[in-house]
Amino acid sequence: MSTKFENISYRIRRFDPERDTAPHWEEYRVPYTPGMTVLEGLWKVKELHSPTLAWRSSCRMGVCGSCGMLINGKPRLACNTQIAELSSDTVVVAPLPNFDIVRDLVPELAPMFASHQALMPYVIREDVEEREHPTNEFFQSAHELEHYLQFTYCIKCGCCMAACPTFATDALYSGPMPLGQAHRYNSDTRDGGFAARKQMLVGEPGPWRCHYAGECSRVCPKGVDPAKAIQLMKRELVFDYLGLHKTKCPANVAGKPTDGKRRDNIPEAPPHTV
Ligand code: FES
Repeated sequence: MSTKFENISYRIRRFDPERDTAPHWEEYRVPYTPGMTVLEGLWKVKELHSPTLAWRSSCRMGVCGSCGMLINGKPRLACNTQIAELSSDTVVVAPLPNFDIVRDLVPELAPMFASHQALMPYVIREDVEEREHPTNEFFQSAHELEHYLQFTYCIKCGCCMAACPTFATDALYSGPMPLGQAHRYNSDTRDGGFAARKQMLVGEPGPWRCHYAGECSRVCPKGVDPAKAIQLMKRELVFDYLGLHKTKCPANVAGKPTDGKRRDNIPEAPPHTV
């Protein structure tokens, strides 16, 4: 978009379940300033035209994951999208697809978080006493960290879920965020929860429903590659079926490095982080 304009159009999908029977579109003109983000424009719409416009946002810096929405046809973070980046003089904003709408641009993300929680996204260990009251560091080498580091950058914004064609059409599928995070913990050498998570992963919500469209990874605003996580998870499940899965925990007990090396050479963050 050219930045010569003094004003910019916002086309926003509105829906108030207490008044509307179906979503509808409304248009607004707001003053444009160079460097303005889509989120800043929404605040202008609220200030100048429609105080009732609803969306979620908090950090305004691509960290909290609350401002995911469909912007000019692509799931993005409103705070991390400059209007000048869009190849249009109109900013078209709708709630993230594949979720029910609470109101206006607010999607109902509770089902996504329920799937996430069901896959136990935390470190599971048998030595509960050591986990709860650690006497030393749960050592992990830089090489071990590298296996899952990029997946820790997920901010649970739901953009990957909104882009996934399988999640759009298959109500049983957990979706890329919960599965990617399950892989993040399965790949963590401090974790021993693979057997527990496997109960869900081999079932209906698991990775076998993924058609590997790859849209989840294309839209992730943090450079995470959930499509890769899901394919690696499939491999892990096949290894387990063949009896080749390696139990990582509790061999890597607190304070005893598995490779005898100090924690150094921490890998770089993925390139597209904000
Ligand atoms: S407001 Fe926190 S990620 Fe956009």
